Amino acid sequence: MEALTSGDFSNETDPFGLFARWLEDATASEPNDPNAMALATVDADGLPDARMVLLKGFDGQGFVFYTNAESAKGRELAAVPKAALLFHWKSLRRQVRVRGPVENVTDAEADAYFASRPRGSRIGAWASQQSRPLESRFALEKAVAVYTAKFGVGEIPRPAYWRGFRVRPVAIEFWHDRPFRLHDRIRFHRPAPDGAWQRERLYP
Ligand SMILES: Cc1cc2nc3c(=O)[nH]c(=O)nc-3n(C[C@H](O)[C@H](O)[C@H](O)COP(=O)(O)O)c2cc1C
Repeated sequence: MEALTSGDFSNETDPFGLFARWLEDATASEPNDPNAMALATVDADGLPDARMVLLKGFDGQGFVFYTNAESAKGRELAAVPKAALLFHWKSLRRQVRVRGPVENVTDAEADAYFASRPRGSRIGAWASQQSRPLESRFALEKAVAVYTAKFGVGEIPRPAYWRGFRVRPVAIEFWHDRPFRLHDRIRFHRPAPDGAWQRERLYP
């Protein structure tokens, strides 16, 4: 599919504006989850770990996702609060790489997003001890039934362990497929999340 945004992004000076446009293009082109991104962290031994999460907030402050802070990724981020994100939009032949330190989103922001989720997902957040061994599917379904009965038709609060994380980028690279593997790569980087962006073109 032809990209909706002009193919030439090499003069772009604002990586957040460019990302917003590419995400908009992906929303129009991808069959599902245009906001899916690989999240890479490292464990206590420095061994990398990666999994998909959904981008649930994005602005000049960074890239936000939500998860169980007691999961593998949550524990890894507690020990080393740094991450890389990777978007790959296949039908657009585009990739975006993001790296930076990670902060918690405020409780108020996490509460507001949690409250916007479907009721079943909110109950699921209580029922799932994410990334810990589960003896059977039945045990999970039993936990869902227990929390469904517990909350009845009332409010479902956000579990304290269910939190938002914001990757504050110090590097964002935009990659676009070009013929003969002579791809375009534009990398923005800055020394710290509040610094000024520098831009450079990279060999493919
Ligand atoms: C497309 C896609 C989106 C996902 N989004 C999330 C998400 O937003 N939050 C989350 O906790 N897990 C999400 N998952 C599940 C994670 O990939 C992963 O299985 C889970 O979070 C446990 O990871 P961990 O053991 O490394 O902590 C998603 C999986 C896929 C395939």
